[in-house]
Amino acid sequence: MTIKLQIYKCNICGNIIQILQEGDGNLVCCGKEMELMGIQYDTDELGEKHTPKTEFKDNKKYVNVIGHPMTKEHYIQFIESYTKEKDELHLKFFKPDEVPEMEVKLEGAINTIEYCNIHNLWGDNVMLENENGNYSI
Ligand SMILES: [Fe+2]
Repeated sequence: MTIKLQIYKCNICGNIIQILQEGDGNLVCCGKEMELMGIQYDTDELGEKHTPKTEFKDNKKYVNVIGHPMTKEHYIQFIESYTKEKDELHLKFFKPDEVPEMEVKLEGAINTIEYCNIHNLWGDNVMLENENGNYSI
């Protein structure tokens, strides 16, 4: 059983997918079950560089992962924010050398996650803990 907005990865070809509609089936890619990507939360040095931050400038809400490298080898590939009800989301992809920041026009409380091409998914709030002890949406 999947959960809306969970992110899965194929460890063979690198496909990354997100759940838009929950279902009972297992997700398979390249002949193997896809891996649910856990969301990391941490306060150590690695977490410091990866935890998305929310800031307000000129009455606009921004989320960013400024402070993280944005080189060809190591960069933030996307940031996604969504409402607590998961009824609206904002997703932005980044290239190396870009500033990993986006304006968010979502009302109310939001969750934000980001994906680093080396260190995987990080979140700004503690989400659900699954049976493997990993956190996910
Ligand atoms: Fe990283």
